[in-house]
Amino acid sequence: MSLDDLKKAAALAAIAHISSGMKLGLGTGSTAKHFVDAVGEKVKEGWDLVCVPTSEATRKQAEGLGIRLTTLDETPVLDVTVDGADELDSDLRLIKGGGGALLREKIVASSSRKMIVIADDSKKVATLGKFPLPVEVVPFGLKATGVKIEQAFAWSGNKGPITLRMRDGKPYVTDNGNVILDCALGRIENVEKLAAALSSIPGVVDHGLFIGMASLALIATAHGIQELRRQAS
Ligand code: 5RP
Repeated sequence: MSLDDLKKAAALAAIAHISSGMKLGLGTGSTAKHFVDAVGEKVKEGWDLVCVPTSEATRKQAEGLGIRLTTLDETPVLDVTVDGADELDSDLRLIKGGGGALLREKIVASSSRKMIVIADDSKKVATLGKFPLPVEVVPFGLKATGVKIEQAFAWSGNKGPITLRMRDGKPYVTDNGNVILDCALGRIENVEKLAAALSSIPGVVDHGLFIGMASLALIATAHGIQELRRQAS
């Protein structure tokens, strides 16, 4: 089974948690893309679904498939958001934002009664941090914000190089007009403390740590789908 087959298997498993009449959040990335395709199939079969996309890329894909879209202004509470992740641990804490959509992904997931993560088993880790943590930052005062991010790392027991994400020789710009700093921490210590410290920095719009948001993960392995549930705290 190829990696893409695993991503598709995870995405198709999520369809079992969806029914006609639901309001959905549609994630971003190569795994979520398979889920959006599957939603498109259900719409063609006649299911009544209305969806909020988490990025312009997902919006375009959904529009192309004839999926009815809404906004969080029209529909502020969604039933389920299904999205991928760059890493997840056994507490269903996530690193997201590899595709640059972390801010809208977090807003949409936090507006949903349930968040389901879909992933191939390479995303499951014992400790978060091998995947560089994306932090979305306002371009104004970028250097000063970077210094404060380093201080937040030191305060929470973390350390690692920070790199401005580039695309085609220019800083990568998110759908919200911001830039992304990728923080190679290797192994994230005190995840909650780091998340709180990053959230308190004025130039930080949001970071890719999703804590206490996902309640179910559908992990595709060569032997089938593994379901991970977050224990209520
Ligand atoms: C985009 C994300 C994606 O969910 C994450 O990068 C996983 O993507 P993929 O399914 O392509 O591996 O957070 O911002």
